Amino acid sequence: MAKAKVIAVANQKGGVGKSTTVFNLGAGLAMDGKKVLLVDVDPQGDLTKMLGQRKPHDLPLTLGNVMNDVVGGSIDQAHPEVMHHHEGFDFVPGNRTLSAVEVGLVNVMSRETVLRQYIDSIKGNYDYVLLDCRPSLGMLVINALSASDYVLIPVQADYLAAEDMTELIGTVQSIKRQINPRLKVGGVFLTMANDTNFRKDVVAAVRENCGKSLPVFQTVIPATVRLAEVSTADKSIFKHEPRGKAAAAYRNLVREVTDIGTKQRQKSADISR
Ligand SMILES: Nc1ncnc2c1ncn2[C@@H]1O[C@H](COP(=O)(O)OP(=O)(O)OP(=O)(O)O)[C@@H](O)[C@H]1O
Ligand SMILES: [Mg+2]
Repeated sequence: MAKAKVIAVANQKGGVGKSTTVFNLGAGLAMDGKKVLLVDVDPQGDLTKMLGQRKPHDLPLTLGNVMNDVVGGSIDQAHPEVMHHHEGFDFVPGNRTLSAVEVGLVNVMSRETVLRQYIDSIKGNYDYVLLDCRPSLGMLVINALSASDYVLIPVQADYLAAEDMTELIGTVQSIKRQINPRLKVGGVFLTMANDTNFRKDVVAAVRENCGKSLPVFQTVIPATVRLAEVSTADKSIFKHEPRGKAAAAYRNLVREVTDIGTKQRQKSADISR
């Protein structure tokens, strides 16, 4: 059985490229032959739309329904909620049902780990499970972080984003302490960059605000209309403009994300020697 890595893509700031990253990273990992599941944990359903389900709120069976099932104590192990994308990966759609779930969680036992119970029931079929978070630090994001091995943090390059990140890093640390000791920051990376010369300054600011040891990827995702087009093209950047700079950047991100686990394994192997 595959040992899945569960990775949340999170930043409470809106519109920084979380959903775009989940789609393209997932498609890139699938191109590399990995078994991939994308999960839309955002009531906006943006990822679900990007994946070709233009009316996410009309879908009868979504993440919100299965989270309700978990709360009710029953998970359908056949997983009829899972859909397939033509680029070779699976996804669980999300829609506004999740808003009601988030509100209802307040009164639920183990409210922080409802999503984890669901992910644990399904992740055995996959190498990678990627969770697309909504732009907040509310209960759905806490659930996503509680279910994850790693969190990836996209940061907008032309924005004083470093200060915004301290709250997210604080949330990650307290979830690690209280709920999910295996949670790590897999990497911070810059998105929507117009000029990669900014990189040094933004990276320095991120480190100053969030700790020197915070891993920052080499990958910088450029700002390009090609990536904006992906949200309605029903295909990833690898199909939309395979030879462009955005595809090259996301290919690099795929490599760096794949490396997270490898380095981790090497490290733990070294320690046990
Ligand atoms: N590198 C990029 N260059 C240009 N446009 C981009 C890039 N990445 C994403 N976009 C566009 O910017 C908008 C926001 O991107 P996206 O939806 O991925 O962000 P998000 O962080 O998921 O937003 P939210 O916080 O609302 O969930 C979308 O219209 C998307 O198509
Ligand atoms: Mg989004």
